Amino acid sequence: MKKIKVGIIGSGFIADYHCFAYKQIPSVEIVGISSLLVEQAKDLMKKYDILGEPIENYNDLLKMDLDAVSICIPNNLHKEVAIAALNSGKHVMIEKPLARTVKEGEEIISTAKNRGKYVFYCENNIYAPAFKKMKQIIKEGGLGKIYKARGKEQHSGPHSAWFYKKENSGGGALIDLGIHDIACLIWLLEDEIKSVFCQITTIQPDRGEFGICDVEDNVMGILYFKNGAQVSIEESWTAPGGYSILFEIYGTKGQVIADPCRMTPIVAYSEKGYGYSVEKAGGTIGWTYPVPDEAWTFGYPQEMKHFIECIETGKKAQTDGRFGLKILKIVELMYKSAISNKIEEL
Ligand SMILES: NC(=O)c1ccc[n+]([C@@H]2O[C@H](COP(=O)([O-])OP(=O)(O)OC[C@H]3O[C@@H](n4cnc5c(N)ncnc54)[C@H](O)[C@@H]3O)[C@@H](O)[C@H]2O)c1
Repeated sequence: MKKIKVGIIGSGFIADYHCFAYKQIPSVEIVGISSLLVEQAKDLMKKYDILGEPIENYNDLLKMDLDAVSICIPNNLHKEVAIAALNSGKHVMIEKPLARTVKEGEEIISTAKNRGKYVFYCENNIYAPAFKKMKQIIKEGGLGKIYKARGKEQHSGPHSAWFYKKENSGGGALIDLGIHDIACLIWLLEDEIKSVFCQITTIQPDRGEFGICDVEDNVMGILYFKNGAQVSIEESWTAPGGYSILFEIYGTKGQVIADPCRMTPIVAYSEKGYGYSVEKAGGTIGWTYPVPDEAWTFGYPQEMKHFIECIETGKKAQTDGRFGLKILKIVELMYKSAISNKIEEL
């Protein structure tokens, strides 16, 4: 079997999921990891039995014999690194957001077109079992005409300083969390957005060891779909209690709700606490909702398997760079609405 050779750029939170996912696929070999944080990269390589030493300069990784790279680094570097990877003849898997701005995203897409390489857009939730089941129920007409929906994602705030600085991230809870909800709601409703309204706020500007948060940490938005559905999104970086994502879809013949972090198949009570329940949970004492097989629950191995199949067979990806760009355009419009305080048309 010909192996697909993959390099990982970054060794932080999401790079771990990428390594975990690639390791499930027999036809993939992880050839190297590039990261500025050498000790972190060494730990990751040890965890997943990846040979060699971390490579500090990503350009050196790109000189290796690789088919594709996973871009798992801060948002301000997505454009530069994706373009370098495409120019060196690699396919790229880019973590959300595609880039900080639509302009940056367009440069990535046009480079991929010129080079004849794929850009895969990492929107893991579209590959998550609970949301796939929701989609099936909707597609089979189980809900009748959909007129209302809600997407909500929250946790207590990101784990690295760069997220809190607009220059590095491009924005706060909207571009970080809202971007998941927008992508999933468009996919679930199989319709296009015609206009948006959005309000953003920063209620916890002092982030201690991470410095000042100069982006929004809370978001309320409305997506008006072409078919008439009114859809709300709510995002928060100031919600203790661990990571949580929720979708509710309402139709004239039914409703479907998915809450994979609160409606888990296990509920635990512990007076002593135990190791780990879910991402960003503050503790495990008392009643908790542990999420089993978190990577699978949130679709990471399924997403990577799909991308590798696309490389192997040439089939079109379910979430490609153009899809990522479409979602980024809506995010940008929502930021425009947050400034104008008006409904903005796409
Ligand atoms: N799909 C999801 O749900 C999800 C979750 C978290 C993060 N993300 C996305 O993944 C990306 C990375 O986020 P993270 O949480 O892993 O960040 P992180 O802070 O945990 O890790 C960032 C990594 O980037 C590396 N890095 C920075 N500059 C580099 C350079 N020039 N060359 C090589 N490595 C460099 C650092 O060494 C570090 O390992 C972001 O775009 C983020 O939006 C997606």
